[in-house]
Amino acid sequence: MRYLLTGAAGFIGSHLGEALLDRGDQVLGLDCFTDFYPRRIKEKNLAGLKGKTGFELLEANLNQVNLREVLGRVDGVFHLSAQAGVRTSWGTDFDHYLEHNIRATQRLLEAMREFSKLRMVFASTSSVYGDTDQYPTPEESLKRPFSPYGATKLAGEGLCYLYYKNYGVHFVTLRFFTVFGARQRPDMAFHKFIRACLLSEPITIYGDGSQLRDYTYVQDIVAGALAVFDRGRTGEAYNLGGGHQTKLMDAIQTIFQLCGKSAELKYEPRVKGDVQETLADTSKARQELGYAPKGSVELGLKEEIAWVQSLLRDN
Ligand SMILES: NC(=O)c1ccc[n+]([C@@H]2O[C@H](COP(=O)([O-])OP(=O)(O)OC[C@H]3O[C@@H](n4cnc5c(N)ncnc54)[C@H](O)[C@@H]3O)[C@@H](O)[C@H]2O)c1
Repeated sequence: MRYLLTGAAGFIGSHLGEALLDRGDQVLGLDCFTDFYPRRIKEKNLAGLKGKTGFELLEANLNQVNLREVLGRVDGVFHLSAQAGVRTSWGTDFDHYLEHNIRATQRLLEAMREFSKLRMVFASTSSVYGDTDQYPTPEESLKRPFSPYGATKLAGEGLCYLYYKNYGVHFVTLRFFTVFGARQRPDMAFHKFIRACLLSEPITIYGDGSQLRDYTYVQDIVAGALAVFDRGRTGEAYNLGGGHQTKLMDAIQTIFQLCGKSAELKYEPRVKGDVQETLADTSKARQELGYAPKGSVELGLKEEIAWVQSLLRDN
């Protein structure tokens, strides 16, 4: 099989691309290298893909590329490209979220109308649940996004569904819960904490550190994405989480232990859009996809620390 992988140069996309190649599939990786974080990091993400048999990189923006031509060359689609990040989704930056999360997804779905045999996996997020009071959160829980980012990803899910119902475009949605491990985006908390700790700089905590997150090891996300393409029911959504909560402050202590040093903690008010708690109900993914998350916080953090160390060495 040959897959279109949007967001191939990103954190999760680059891992998924490698897994597809490893099992003998071909990957057409599409990425426009948005400036949300440095290109040099995305190039490093791609190191395990570029030059490998079966991989082709198409540097292009989903909003501009000739999608008819692109879709004509593949047997399936993993749509991971997006403008991610909760905290940066306010104000005029919201335009990036409209462009990359809503308009690009609509453009892809519109093009897929002509390719009725193609199936697409859409990468969504726990942020669509937002202000929920149901923990663990099942897929059918009320969707009340708490951030503009979450609202644009929920709009993406809505677009997938209406193109499926009106035009038979086949899709499955995955809702990822805070993903971590090697290549985690530099705007994400663990990456920032590890970097600060290694550089002996202060760590900034927004709120009191009591936030609870369901952290998901990136290789578990990859396993879930491969499984959902083959076994997921069209039109359905599946949560992919680690399945248990970790307090932010406990994660920081683990980072200190693994780095062999600590750092000064600075406290700032909670950031708008951040929820206090997330926890995935993964029973649907476990039952229907055979999803069985294996990565512990320690394992993923060890790999992420090695990654951040290598980024610092490159500098
Ligand atoms: N990382 C997480 O914890 C997390 C959690 C929930 C959901 N998600 C979702 O998973 C997906 C991947 O996230 P990530 O953390 O790997 O992000 P990332 O920013 O590392 O990767 C996204 C990639 O998409 C590319 N891109 C953006 N807009 C594009 C466009 N219009 N055309 C072509 N390429 C474009 C970017 O250049 C980037 O390389 C996103 O859809 C995100 O919303 C991530």
